[in-house]
Amino acid sequence: MMPGPTHSTLLNPAQAQRLRLAFDDDRDAETFFLRLERYGPELLDSLRAVYLERAGGLLERLLEIMLHAYHTRPADLKRLDEARLLSPDWLQSPTMVGYVAYADRFAGTLRGVQDHVNYLENLGVTYLHLMPLLRPREGQNDGGYAVADYRSVRPDLGTMDDLSALARDLRGRGISLVLDLVLNHVAREHEWAEKARAGEDQYRDYFHLFADRGLPDAYEATLPEVFPDFAPGNFTWDDHAGEGGAGGWVWTTFNTYQWDLNWGNPDVLAEFVDIILNLANRGVEVFRLDAIAFMWKRLGTDSQNQPEVHHLTRALRAAARIVAPAVAFKAEAIVGPGDLIHYLGTGTHHGRVSDMAYHNSLMVQLWSSLASRDTRLMEEALRAFPPKPTNTTWGLYVRCHDDIGWAIGDTDAARVGISGPGHRHFLSDFYSGEFPGSFARGLVFQFNPATGDRRISGSAASLAGLETALEGGDEALIKLAVGRLLLLHTVILGFGGVPLLYMGDELALLGDYGYADTPEHAADNRWVHRPRMDWELAQEVRDHPDTPAGQVNAGLRWRIAVRKTLPHLHASIEPQVIASPDPRVLMLRRDHPLGVLLEVYNFSEERVVLPAYVLRGHLGEDAHDALSRSAFHLTRPTVTLDPYRALWLTAPEVSA
Ligand code: GLC
Repeated sequence: MMPGPTHSTLLNPAQAQRLRLAFDDDRDAETFFLRLERYGPELLDSLRAVYLERAGGLLERLLEIMLHAYHTRPADLKRLDEARLLSPDWLQSPTMVGYVAYADRFAGTLRGVQDHVNYLENLGVTYLHLMPLLRPREGQNDGGYAVADYRSVRPDLGTMDDLSALARDLRGRGISLVLDLVLNHVAREHEWAEKARAGEDQYRDYFHLFADRGLPDAYEATLPEVFPDFAPGNFTWDDHAGEGGAGGWVWTTFNTYQWDLNWGNPDVLAEFVDIILNLANRGVEVFRLDAIAFMWKRLGTDSQNQPEVHHLTRALRAAARIVAPAVAFKAEAIVGPGDLIHYLGTGTHHGRVSDMAYHNSLMVQLWSSLASRDTRLMEEALRAFPPKPTNTTWGLYVRCHDDIGWAIGDTDAARVGISGPGHRHFLSDFYSGEFPGSFARGLVFQFNPATGDRRISGSAASLAGLETALEGGDEALIKLAVGRLLLLHTVILGFGGVPLLYMGDELALLGDYGYADTPEHAADNRWVHRPRMDWELAQEVRDHPDTPAGQVNAGLRWRIAVRKTLPHLHASIEPQVIASPDPRVLMLRRDHPLGVLLEVYNFSEERVVLPAYVLRGHLGEDAHDALSRSAFHLTRPTVTLDPYRALWLTAPEVSA
């Protein structure tokens, strides 16, 4: 007798019978049915919440897609599925270290990346996010985020088979391949959009199209602008977007050539389940859910973070879990903490949506504290952060390919007695280098005169002061810039989550001002911090660890190695912010069953003297600093922290 699902709510007997017949192998069938029992109810529940009476029909379609994907899933990936089910906390482990790179800028092609896997392995990387590499539209394509075909690779990078081969190679070395899944929009040149423009009703329903400005104007009243400078507004006129070949308005949150998808149409969900499973069967292990906050539109709101987004994610994840439980989801939701936590799951979604989310707030606070030499605002912001579900993790970063928007909450600012708008203004001045005495060199991105917002582009090294210091040739200033870069990276390595090193930051690469000479990039200064990998420098830093780049590199490698030895850094443990006796110093405490880890970070270029009793209260008299691998006695009345110094202190028996 073949096994079958026991949840009668999910399948009727005829459906269950049909499904059974789709398997020749009993064990295979059993695995599928067990997973269906576990995740099917979640899937159906979320489909019902979004698609109401259309949910049943949609589930049948999804089952077909899932069955096909399950049957075609390669044996080594099925093995990975089993391994992951045995280690469900794999993404939370302190051994995880991420690296983020553009395949072409890192190594030319996918095969080129394969030739450089040793480099990544050597750095300790276990998670490789290759920036958008599916075939984008020609010309401007928002760094690949305007996908024209989800089933082929950008031709100059290679083929789908190269992608599978690379994934296999990475997997063999314990490195998970991470790809972007652009969910909110497709390129105007995508087949679906082309068909919609050709008047095919079925595909017109894949998008948000309007005959006149009536609804767009009504929506626009409460919508923010993502690119106010080069793509103002949220709707674009298209000569063929109207009914019967007439012109019409298309929802385009981002650039005019990125058409927002209508997730209210079940066909769109079915398409993406198929796309996800297809890529998962190619060996993609983590999907970065791009711009996920914008997926659902609602009149009278900012059309971000709508409840349907979480149901859709839960449905996509449940489908992925049934076929490919090795796969994890990472939410790219650059939203406030109160909204962000829902992407990791609250209420009935607790721990059932994305497995990971970017901690944008920490990134912003790192740069904010570095500029103000004051960690009180960061303390407030972190304290106000709701705890995440214990089975989820953060994506932690110092820099990424995007600009930095000063997501500083007015309430947090008020709590430490400063003005939100005033501080945001200061940070923009500081990081564009306009503020007198600023060490930073960055560029203003998307100045919005309506809100006063000035976001910032720039490489980590340039923002941390290395560019200006090298120009001035002052050794002391260079040392401080190196100290800042290492400090920020130490925080993300020690926060509990997957640290995401952004390509080039391990070599302290400066801004690449040549972007302005490339016509497709000139208008978008985010390209200043998307440099090409400098392989000569990568070699040089190994031979000359005393140069600034060499010090950053060696320092990072050391910290990565130390991180991997500390069980306290498991992401299921929440860091607690400890009241610091000095505003320049941030203190975080992690309580692991093995003991306490106290992290101490000096965010200033000054030597800070702390009363030792504060640390002693957490650790006793004889602590151990994991970062310097040395005893750290707390018997004296004070502790002196050098500029930008970090300590990871444990009690001695823990590190023994
Ligand atoms: C995400 C990407 C960004 C892109 C946008 C639109 O925010 O990180 O680079 O412009 O989505 O896809």
